Amino acid sequence: MKNNEKNSRPLCLSGKGVTKVFGMGNKKTVAVDHVDFEFHEGELISIVGESGSGKTTLSKLLLGLSNATEGEIFFQGKPRDISTRKKKKGYWKDIQAIFQDPFSSYNIFSKIDTVLLDCINMRGGRTFPMEKKMEMMTEACSFVNLKFAELTNKYPFELSGGQMQRLMIARIFLLKPKILLADEPTSMIDACSRATILDMLLHLRDETGMTIIFITHDIGLAYYISDSVYIMEHGKFVERGTADEVILHSKADYTKRLISDVPKIYEEWDLSTV
Ligand SMILES: Nc1ncnc2c1ncn2[C@@H]1O[C@H](COP(=O)(O)OP(=O)(O)OP(=O)(O)O)[C@@H](O)[C@H]1O
Ligand SMILES: [Mg+2]
Repeated sequence: MKNNEKNSRPLCLSGKGVTKVFGMGNKKTVAVDHVDFEFHEGELISIVGESGSGKTTLSKLLLGLSNATEGEIFFQGKPRDISTRKKKKGYWKDIQAIFQDPFSSYNIFSKIDTVLLDCINMRGGRTFPMEKKMEMMTEACSFVNLKFAELTNKYPFELSGGQMQRLMIARIFLLKPKILLADEPTSMIDACSRATILDMLLHLRDETGMTIIFITHDIGLAYYISDSVYIMEHGKFVERGTADEVILHSKADYTKRLISDVPKIYEEWDLSTV
Protein backbone atom coordinates (compact mmCIF):
# COMPACT_ATOMS: atom_id res chain seq x y z
CA MET A 1 0.00 0.00 0.00
CA LYS A 2 1.49 3.36 -1.01
CA ASN A 3 1.78 6.09 1.59
CA ASN A 4 -0.64 8.51 -0.11
CA GLU A 5 -3.14 5.72 -0.68
CA LYS A 6 -2.89 4.74 2.97
CA ASN A 7 -3.45 8.26 4.27
CA SER A 8 -6.56 8.65 2.16
CA ARG A 9 -8.11 5.69 3.96
CA PRO A 10 -10.17 6.38 7.07
CA LEU A 11 -8.58 6.08 10.47
CA CYS A 12 -9.36 2.85 12.21
CA LEU A 13 -7.52 3.02 15.49
CA SER A 14 -5.45 5.92 16.75
CA GLY A 15 -4.02 7.22 19.98
CA LYS A 16 -2.66 10.39 21.55
CA GLY A 17 -0.22 10.40 24.45
CA VAL A 18 -1.14 6.85 25.42
CA THR A 19 0.71 5.92 28.60
CA LYS A 20 0.74 3.00 31.01
CA VAL A 21 2.54 3.15 34.32
CA PHE A 22 2.87 0.15 36.63
CA GLY A 23 3.65 0.48 40.32
CA MET A 24 4.69 3.64 42.10
CA GLY A 25 7.63 5.41 43.72
CA ASN A 26 10.94 3.73 43.02
CA LYS A 27 9.08 0.62 41.83
CA LYS A 28 7.50 2.60 39.01
CA THR A 29 7.71 1.24 35.45
CA VAL A 30 6.56 3.39 32.56
CA ALA A 31 5.77 0.49 30.22
CA VAL A 32 4.15 2.65 27.53
CA ASP A 33 5.30 6.25 27.44
CA HIS A 34 3.16 8.87 25.64
CA VAL A 35 2.81 7.13 22.30
CA ASP A 36 0.89 8.57 19.33
CA PHE A 37 -0.27 6.35 16.48
CA GLU A 38 -2.60 6.33 13.50
CA PHE A 39 -3.66 3.00 12.05
CA HIS A 40 -5.76 3.16 8.87
CA GLU A 41 -8.38 0.76 7.53
CA GLY A 42 -6.87 -2.18 5.69
CA GLU A 43 -3.35 -1.30 6.75
CA LEU A 44 -0.84 -3.84 8.03
CA ILE A 45 1.17 -2.31 10.83
CA SER A 46 4.11 -3.90 12.61
CA ILE A 47 5.18 -2.86 16.07
CA VAL A 48 8.80 -3.90 16.53
CA GLY A 49 10.87 -3.80 19.68
CA GLU A 50 13.05 -5.84 21.95
CA SER A 51 11.82 -7.79 24.94
CA GLY A 52 10.44 -5.49 27.61
CA SER A 53 9.94 -2.53 25.26
CA GLY A 54 6.20 -2.41 26.05
CA LYS A 55 4.62 -4.20 23.10
CA THR A 56 2.32 -6.50 25.06
CA THR A 57 1.34 -3.70 27.42
CA LEU A 58 0.35 -1.59 24.42
CA SER A 59 -1.62 -4.50 22.88
CA LYS A 60 -3.61 -4.85 26.08
CA LEU A 61 -4.45 -1.14 25.95
CA LEU A 62 -5.49 -1.45 22.31
CA LEU A 63 -7.65 -4.48 23.09
CA GLY A 64 -9.28 -2.70 26.00
CA LEU A 65 -8.02 -5.31 28.45
CA SER A 66 -6.29 -2.71 30.54
CA ASN A 67 -6.78 1.01 31.11
CA ALA A 68 -4.31 3.69 30.10
CA THR A 69 -2.83 5.78 32.90
CA GLU A 70 -2.88 8.78 30.56
CA GLY A 71 -3.82 9.63 27.00
CA GLU A 72 -6.68 8.63 24.78
CA ILE A 73 -7.47 5.94 22.22
CA PHE A 74 -9.76 6.66 19.27
CA PHE A 75 -11.77 4.12 17.31
CA GLN A 76 -12.78 5.19 13.81
CA GLY A 77 -11.80 8.73 14.67
CA LYS A 78 -13.97 9.06 17.78
CA PRO A 79 -12.87 8.66 21.41
CA ARG A 80 -13.22 4.97 22.17
CA ASP A 81 -15.94 4.37 24.72
CA ILE A 82 -15.73 1.02 26.51
CA SER A 83 -17.02 2.31 29.80
CA THR A 84 -19.79 -0.27 30.16
CA ARG A 85 -19.77 -4.04 29.75
CA LYS A 86 -22.11 -3.77 26.79
CA LYS A 87 -19.93 -1.20 25.00
CA LYS A 88 -16.86 -3.30 25.68
CA LYS A 89 -18.51 -6.37 24.18
CA GLY A 90 -19.43 -4.31 21.14
CA TYR A 91 -15.83 -3.18 20.78
CA TRP A 92 -14.61 -6.76 21.01
CA LYS A 93 -16.62 -7.59 17.89
CA ASP A 94 -14.49 -5.07 16.05
CA ILE A 95 -11.11 -6.08 17.45
CA GLN A 96 -9.84 -9.62 17.86
CA ALA A 97 -6.47 -11.00 18.87
CA ILE A 98 -4.50 -14.08 18.12
CA PHE A 99 -1.84 -15.03 20.60
CA GLN A 100 1.45 -16.86 20.41
CA ASP A 101 0.02 -19.80 22.27
CA PRO A 102 -3.02 -21.16 20.44
CA PHE A 103 -3.97 -23.24 23.51
CA SER A 104 -4.87 -20.04 25.31
CA SER A 105 -7.29 -19.10 22.53
CA TYR A 106 -9.72 -21.95 23.00
CA ASN A 107 -11.94 -23.26 25.67
CA ILE A 108 -10.53 -26.77 25.77
CA PHE A 109 -13.90 -28.21 26.76
CA SER A 110 -15.56 -26.99 23.58
CA LYS A 111 -15.58 -29.12 20.47
CA ILE A 112 -14.27 -27.52 17.30
CA ASP A 113 -17.81 -27.34 15.90
CA THR A 114 -18.84 -25.31 18.91
CA VAL A 115 -15.77 -23.06 18.63
CA LEU A 116 -16.74 -22.21 15.04
CA LEU A 117 -20.51 -22.06 15.66
CA ASP A 118 -19.89 -19.55 18.45
CA CYS A 119 -18.18 -17.29 15.92
CA ILE A 120 -21.14 -17.48 13.55
CA ASN A 121 -23.56 -16.76 16.39
CA MET A 122 -21.45 -13.82 17.54
CA ARG A 123 -21.68 -12.34 14.05
CA GLY A 124 -25.47 -12.44 14.16
CA GLY A 125 -25.93 -15.84 12.51
CA ARG A 126 -27.74 -17.50 15.41
CA THR A 127 -30.94 -17.91 13.40
CA PHE A 128 -29.29 -19.15 10.19
CA PRO A 129 -30.42 -22.63 9.12
CA MET A 130 -27.94 -25.36 10.10
CA GLU A 131 -27.19 -25.98 6.45
CA LYS A 132 -25.96 -22.43 5.99
CA LYS A 133 -23.89 -22.64 9.18
CA MET A 134 -22.25 -25.84 7.94
CA GLU A 135 -21.45 -24.15 4.66
CA MET A 136 -19.84 -21.21 6.46
CA MET A 137 -17.76 -23.48 8.70
CA THR A 138 -16.64 -25.54 5.72
CA GLU A 139 -15.65 -22.40 3.85
CA ALA A 140 -13.70 -21.03 6.82
CA CYS A 141 -11.82 -24.31 7.23
CA SER A 142 -10.97 -24.58 3.58
CA PHE A 143 -9.69 -20.98 3.66
CA VAL A 144 -6.92 -22.24 5.96
CA ASN A 145 -6.54 -25.63 4.24
CA LEU A 146 -8.33 -27.61 6.92
CA LYS A 147 -11.09 -30.10 6.18
CA PHE A 148 -14.12 -29.38 8.29
CA ALA A 149 -15.40 -32.94 7.92
CA GLU A 150 -12.22 -34.23 9.60
CA LEU A 151 -12.54 -31.82 12.50
CA THR A 152 -16.14 -32.26 13.56
CA ASN A 153 -16.56 -33.87 16.94
CA LYS A 154 -12.91 -33.26 17.83
CA TYR A 155 -11.54 -31.08 20.59
CA PRO A 156 -8.92 -28.39 19.93
CA PHE A 157 -6.32 -30.35 21.96
CA GLU A 158 -6.64 -33.21 19.49
CA LEU A 159 -5.14 -31.02 16.76
CA SER A 160 -1.48 -30.45 16.00
CA GLY A 161 0.06 -27.07 16.88
CA GLY A 162 -0.03 -25.99 13.25
CA GLN A 163 -3.64 -27.10 12.78
CA MET A 164 -4.59 -25.20 15.90
CA GLN A 165 -2.98 -22.03 14.60
CA ARG A 166 -4.92 -22.46 11.37
CA LEU A 167 -8.17 -23.01 13.25
CA MET A 168 -7.43 -19.74 15.01
CA ILE A 169 -7.33 -18.00 11.63
CA ALA A 170 -10.52 -19.81 10.51
CA ARG A 171 -12.22 -18.26 13.55
CA ILE A 172 -11.04 -14.80 12.50
CA PHE A 173 -12.35 -15.50 8.98
CA LEU A 174 -15.81 -16.09 10.49
CA LEU A 175 -15.66 -13.27 13.03
CA LYS A 176 -14.51 -10.71 10.45
CA PRO A 177 -13.32 -8.13 12.97
CA LYS A 178 -12.30 -4.70 11.69
CA ILE A 179 -8.96 -5.05 13.48
CA LEU A 180 -6.83 -8.10 14.10
CA LEU A 181 -3.99 -7.92 16.57
CA ALA A 182 -1.45 -10.71 16.22
CA ASP A 183 1.29 -11.43 18.68
CA GLU A 184 3.91 -13.05 16.51
CA PRO A 185 3.15 -16.74 16.23
CA THR A 186 6.67 -18.08 16.66
CA SER A 187 6.74 -20.29 19.68
CA MET A 188 4.79 -23.35 18.63
CA ILE A 189 5.54 -23.64 15.00
CA ASP A 190 8.37 -24.19 12.57
CA ALA A 191 9.49 -21.61 10.03
CA CYS A 192 7.46 -23.24 7.29
CA SER A 193 4.11 -23.15 9.07
CA ARG A 194 4.98 -19.67 10.25
CA ALA A 195 5.32 -18.51 6.65
CA THR A 196 2.00 -20.19 5.85
CA ILE A 197 0.29 -18.41 8.74
CA LEU A 198 1.69 -15.09 7.59
CA ASP A 199 0.51 -15.73 4.06
CA MET A 200 -2.94 -16.55 5.40
CA LEU A 201 -3.02 -13.36 7.42
CA LEU A 202 -2.08 -11.35 4.34
CA HIS A 203 -4.71 -13.18 2.30
CA LEU A 204 -7.28 -12.52 5.03
CA ARG A 205 -6.43 -8.84 4.96
CA ASP A 206 -6.83 -8.69 1.17
CA GLU A 207 -10.07 -10.63 1.35
CA THR A 208 -11.74 -8.71 4.19
CA GLY A 209 -9.94 -5.34 4.26
CA MET A 210 -9.24 -5.71 7.97
CA THR A 211 -6.52 -3.75 9.71
CA ILE A 212 -3.78 -6.01 11.03
CA ILE A 213 -1.48 -5.04 13.87
CA PHE A 214 1.46 -7.36 14.05
CA ILE A 215 3.68 -7.47 17.12
CA THR A 216 7.18 -8.82 16.58
CA HIS A 217 10.85 -8.82 17.54
CA ASP A 218 11.77 -9.50 13.95
CA ILE A 219 12.46 -6.36 11.96
CA GLY A 220 13.22 -8.38 8.82
CA LEU A 221 9.78 -9.94 8.93
CA ALA A 222 8.21 -6.54 9.59
CA TYR A 223 9.86 -5.21 6.44
CA TYR A 224 8.57 -8.12 4.43
CA ILE A 225 4.90 -7.89 5.43
CA SER A 226 4.09 -4.34 6.62
CA ASP A 227 2.77 -1.14 5.18
CA SER A 228 3.80 0.81 8.28
CA VAL A 229 6.35 0.07 10.96
CA TYR A 230 6.52 1.50 14.48
CA ILE A 231 9.77 0.93 16.38
CA MET A 232 9.35 0.72 20.14
CA GLU A 233 12.11 1.25 22.72
CA HIS A 234 11.54 1.65 26.46
CA GLY A 235 7.84 2.33 25.95
CA LYS A 236 8.32 5.03 23.30
CA PHE A 237 8.01 5.00 19.54
CA VAL A 238 11.48 6.07 18.48
CA GLU A 239 10.71 5.83 14.78
CA ARG A 240 7.65 5.29 12.58
CA GLY A 241 6.82 5.41 8.90
CA THR A 242 6.40 3.20 5.89
CA ALA A 243 8.36 -0.05 5.92
CA ASP A 244 10.76 1.44 3.36
CA GLU A 245 11.28 4.66 5.30
CA VAL A 246 11.91 2.94 8.59
CA ILE A 247 14.00 0.02 7.43
CA LEU A 248 15.79 1.23 4.30
CA HIS A 249 16.27 4.81 5.52
CA SER A 250 16.31 4.47 9.31
CA LYS A 251 17.14 7.54 11.32
CA ALA A 252 17.08 6.25 14.89
CA ASP A 253 20.19 4.52 16.22
CA TYR A 254 17.99 1.95 17.90
CA THR A 255 16.42 0.95 14.56
CA LYS A 256 19.86 0.70 12.97
CA ARG A 257 20.95 -1.54 15.81
CA LEU A 258 17.89 -3.81 15.40
CA ILE A 259 18.71 -4.09 11.70
CA SER A 260 22.38 -4.85 12.33
CA ASP A 261 21.28 -7.61 14.71
CA VAL A 262 19.76 -9.38 11.71
CA PRO A 263 22.75 -9.34 9.38
CA LYS A 264 21.01 -11.58 6.90
CA ILE A 265 18.18 -9.21 6.18
CA TYR A 266 20.08 -7.68 3.25
CA GLU A 267 20.98 -11.07 1.86
CA GLU A 268 17.61 -12.71 2.16
CA TRP A 269 15.64 -9.88 0.62
CA ASP A 270 17.69 -8.19 -1.99
CA LEU A 271 16.85 -4.68 -0.86
CA SER A 272 19.02 -3.03 -3.49
CA THR A 273 16.34 -3.78 -6.07
CA VAL A 274 13.48 -2.27 -4.07
N1 LIG B 1 1.38 -6.23 35.16
C1 LIG B 1 2.59 -5.64 35.23
N2 LIG B 1 3.04 -5.14 36.41
C2 LIG B 1 4.24 -4.52 36.50
N3 LIG B 1 5.09 -4.35 35.45
C3 LIG B 1 4.70 -4.84 34.27
C4 LIG B 1 3.45 -5.51 34.09
N4 LIG B 1 3.34 -5.89 32.78
C5 LIG B 1 4.47 -5.48 32.18
N5 LIG B 1 5.30 -4.85 33.05
C6 LIG B 1 6.61 -4.24 32.74
O1 LIG B 1 6.43 -3.36 31.63
C7 LIG B 1 7.53 -3.45 30.73
C8 LIG B 1 7.05 -3.81 29.35
O2 LIG B 1 6.57 -5.15 29.35
P1 LIG B 1 5.86 -5.82 28.09
O3 LIG B 1 5.36 -7.14 28.50
O4 LIG B 1 4.88 -4.86 27.53
O5 LIG B 1 7.09 -5.97 27.07
P2 LIG B 1 7.16 -6.68 25.63
O6 LIG B 1 7.69 -5.65 24.69
O7 LIG B 1 5.86 -7.28 25.32
O8 LIG B 1 8.26 -7.82 25.84
P3 LIG B 1 8.37 -9.27 25.15
O9 LIG B 1 8.91 -9.03 23.78
O10 LIG B 1 9.37 -9.97 26.03
O11 LIG B 1 7.03 -9.92 25.16
C9 LIG B 1 8.49 -4.46 31.35
O12 LIG B 1 9.47 -3.74 32.07
C10 LIG B 1 7.61 -5.26 32.27
O13 LIG B 1 8.36 -5.77 33.34
MG1 LIG C 1 5.24 -9.32 24.91
